[in-house]
Amino acid sequence: MSTVAGGIFTSHVPGIGQAIDKGLQQDPYWKPFFDGFHPVHEWLAREKPDVLVCFYNDHGLNFFLDAMPTFAIGAAEGYSHEDEGWGISGYKPYSGMPELSWHIINQVVGDEFDPTMCQKMLVDHALAIPVELAWPDAKSWPFKLVPIAINTVQFPLPSPKRCFEFGRSVGRALESWQGDEKIVVMGTGGLSHQLEGERAGHINIEYDMFCMDHLSRDPEALLQHSSLDIVDLAGSQGVEILNWIAARGAMRGSVTEYSRNYHIPISNTATATMLLENHATVMA
Ligand code: DHB
Ligand code: FE
Repeated sequence: MSTVAGGIFTSHVPGIGQAIDKGLQQDPYWKPFFDGFHPVHEWLAREKPDVLVCFYNDHGLNFFLDAMPTFAIGAAEGYSHEDEGWGISGYKPYSGMPELSWHIINQVVGDEFDPTMCQKMLVDHALAIPVELAWPDAKSWPFKLVPIAINTVQFPLPSPKRCFEFGRSVGRALESWQGDEKIVVMGTGGLSHQLEGERAGHINIEYDMFCMDHLSRDPEALLQHSSLDIVDLAGSQGVEILNWIAARGAMRGSVTEYSRNYHIPISNTATATMLLENHATVMA
């Protein structure tokens, strides 16, 4: 019987990778962000999940603007990180779990989603940096990975409601998985940020707080806005909250907040880290 033990939600600013490379975790600029991961480390050391299902967005590495899937699910034996231009590299490769990937794909297609099925898939900073943050001392990764990429880049974007329902469908697959693995889900990106144009540097603390305050107990409150509303509210990259919404959808049963951290700015971004615990004992 598998269990979804919790969900980790975090920003994925590439500069964090450079700070890790340089060992700047205690530097006054970086410390308030890195400190938000102490409860995550303590929780992971205790829970020791075997599987990571990570909802993130690809930024032009595996998918480019000429062919952009709305939802893409990795079904490979393994995955590597490559750098799409940020000067970060050298991360360890990840082992896949194709049998669980196909189980998820079968469920979501059965639920009338149409994901792209990726038997080869490179992963970018949006997956690699959160994983480095969560398991900073790992000699090799202690989990098997199922990467799930959501288009938050090329219009038209999926709606928050669609992403939540997609996450719920993934959650149903995790619930019916017959293995005895402990699973952690992850949603990366956000919170409010806009990197380009006249509004570069746009940050909306009020909207960020609204998202953080509702994520554990009332995630459906986040579905009242359209994706374009979220671009308005949170910035053109703030819409990466769609990854958080999908990951939260995959957590079923009773969910409580274990820790949160919010810090402005890292680069142009209002950064946040949250850990939610899932108290449901998942039915086999
Ligand atoms: C930054 C944030 C992102 O989400 C990203 O993908 C790239 C850069 C930033 O704030 O620098
Ligand atoms: Fe991003």
